Amino acid sequence: MTTVIAVNGKGGTGKTTVAALFVDYISSKKLGSLLAVDADPNATLANMLGVKVEETMVGVVDEVSAKRDALPAGMSKDRFIEMKVQESIGEAENFDLLVMGRPEGPGCYCYVNTVLRGVLNDVTKSYRYIVIDNAAGMEHISRRTERNIDKFVLVSDYSIMGIRSSAQIFKLAKEMGIKFGKAYLVINKASGSIDALKKEIDFSSLSLAGTIGYDEEFVCLSLNNSPISFLSSAKAKVEVTEIMEKILEN
Ligand SMILES: Nc1ncnc2c1ncn2[C@@H]1O[C@H](COP(=O)(O)OP(=O)(O)OP(=O)(O)O)[C@@H](O)[C@H]1O
Ligand SMILES: [Mg+2]
Repeated sequence: MTTVIAVNGKGGTGKTTVAALFVDYISSKKLGSLLAVDADPNATLANMLGVKVEETMVGVVDEVSAKRDALPAGMSKDRFIEMKVQESIGEAENFDLLVMGRPEGPGCYCYVNTVLRGVLNDVTKSYRYIVIDNAAGMEHISRRTERNIDKFVLVSDYSIMGIRSSAQIFKLAKEMGIKFGKAYLVINKASGSIDALKKEIDFSSLSLAGTIGYDEEFVCLSLNNSPISFLSSAKAKVEVTEIMEKILEN
């Protein structure tokens, strides 16, 4: 059985940080085989995980497009690209990594999104866990990159508006027919009690998985370009453990 966890939310709320914390939790606890997917064209997940990216999906698409004659007989270009992308999945010590990358020029992301969807469909069964760091906002949801998500995680900042925009993204995902097991809210960079947000959280109909307090250490890690595995804050670790236990409990 595979558990697909997709991390969403508006810009700058801490999606990549939360996705990296999830990857670090699953891999350090050795919960099972794990694929981390950076589905944000502005890719930062690998950096936060301290992994060097050798190849991106966009790179593979460009390479195959440039050498049309390399296509094996009887195989469609789309299928060939999917196969090549699967071959290009990078291997870190405790997890694998797939990076979408950013297409050059003004073209749209539709094609790489379609490839990503095909690859995710194919590789899903090979991993116990898949953690996807998504681009900010709703666009990728309207492109329906993922169709089956077990844990749809919305990261909000510590504000009423943040929770409202999480609720909007969740609503759009439901309208687009994305199938998900359960949707969760994670409040990040919390600088106080969540009491003042309780009413809004109830109204969002999202299940609160937990909060991560504002912690200068995240800022320092980012300034020093250090991976999330260097995090030493005991408080943040307890918060992440609580969130993961809740998300993975059923
Ligand atoms: N709990 C926290 N406390 C303090 N700073 C944090 C916390 N979580 C994340 N940050 C910082 O906030 C910044 C944005 O985080 P991150 O890149 O994870 O957000 P994002 O939602 O992925 O952004 P984008 O929308 O650009 O993809 C980073 O500098 C990160 O270190
Ligand atoms: Mg990000």
